[in-house]
Amino acid sequence: MGETYIADGSRYETMTYKRCGKSGLLLPAISLGLWHNFGFTDNYNNSREILRAAFDQGITHFDLANNYGPPAGSAEEVFGSILKKDFASYRDEMIITSKAGYDMWDGPYGEWGSRKYLVASLNQSLKRMGIEYVDIFYSHRFDPETPLEETMMALDHIVKSGKALYAGISNYSSEQTAEAIQILNKLGTPCLIHQSRYSMMDRMVEDGLLDMLEMNGVGFVAYSPLAQGVLTDRYLKGIPSGSRASKAHFLKPEQITPELIASISKLNELALQRGQTLAQMATAWLLRDKRVTSVIVGVSSVQQLNDNIDTLNNISFSKEEEEKIFSIINEL
Ligand SMILES: NC(=O)c1ccc[n+]([C@@H]2O[C@H](COP(=O)([O-])OP(=O)(O)OC[C@H]3O[C@@H](n4cnc5c(N)ncnc54)[C@H](OP(=O)(O)O)[C@@H]3O)[C@@H](O)[C@H]2O)c1
Repeated sequence: MGETYIADGSRYETMTYKRCGKSGLLLPAISLGLWHNFGFTDNYNNSREILRAAFDQGITHFDLANNYGPPAGSAEEVFGSILKKDFASYRDEMIITSKAGYDMWDGPYGEWGSRKYLVASLNQSLKRMGIEYVDIFYSHRFDPETPLEETMMALDHIVKSGKALYAGISNYSSEQTAEAIQILNKLGTPCLIHQSRYSMMDRMVEDGLLDMLEMNGVGFVAYSPLAQGVLTDRYLKGIPSGSRASKAHFLKPEQITPELIASISKLNELALQRGQTLAQMATAWLLRDKRVTSVIVGVSSVQQLNDNIDTLNNISFSKEEEEKIFSIINEL
């Protein structure tokens, strides 16, 4: 991997780019998340190969947060190191995000939504990644104890200080989002984007949030679109070693029940009939909704990445396919 990286000259020919709400920013339909597989405990060359393969195929959007690793912070350091080696001349072609909200350092200023925490955390993230600004900075979760005005004023300050180009929120409810959008509009830093969990297995955002974002011209990115790997063929024959469920941290083996696998098998058969893998069908299912700007996938190999990018060859569903899928996922 020592050789100089030169990005593939055809990288913008096949990826689909979608406008993020009513902003000027286009995001790739498939984005790459660095929550897993980019920490100090992961294989550096594998992380580097994944990033190169993603960028070579038009993925311009890389999703990070202060706490990604493990250990927390290490995904940003690994990303920063690869950025310096491979992507230094491509920085203006990249959308790099970070977030603050979850537990990051000791004491009363290391989590949640105070101005103190958000500004200090972003400064740390910029240092770890070796960059002067992030493209999008998110409040990672709503803080019930801090006035929402303070958290939004911190985002506004961060954008106006040039340390982030856009402001976003993540894991906020519809009501909290509506209020945040209003405050940010008043401050003159519109909310660019909302990031939430969304998959065939978790459809909470369909209960009002997606409509509200569309009405306000705010984009939406879905995270964990494959339910951390459950909505793929990964667990159809048990729990493979090295898989996320085998690590039993964020996805527990006991969540992979025989009943769940029976439903996943049915979805898998439908996907195969469509000429797709289940991972592709699960991502296509989200992208068929025009309110979804982008889907952030996580991958542990270049092979998974390529499989996910090929989703874009078929993201439409017949009425009959939709009915069959709803009859399965409504029971999940
Ligand atoms: N805002 C938030 O609070 C928040 C929370 C969670 C995630 N996120 C963001 O969303 C990103 C994606 O989340 P996620 O990693 O949970 O997403 P995901 O795409 O639902 O799950 C990723 C896992 O699925 C498996 N996989 C991926 N592609 C596959 C394929 N084609 N075939 C078979 N298995 C496949 C891999 O599991 P194995 O590792 O077992 O191979 C991979 O690690 C994160 O990296 C992060 O950027 C944000």
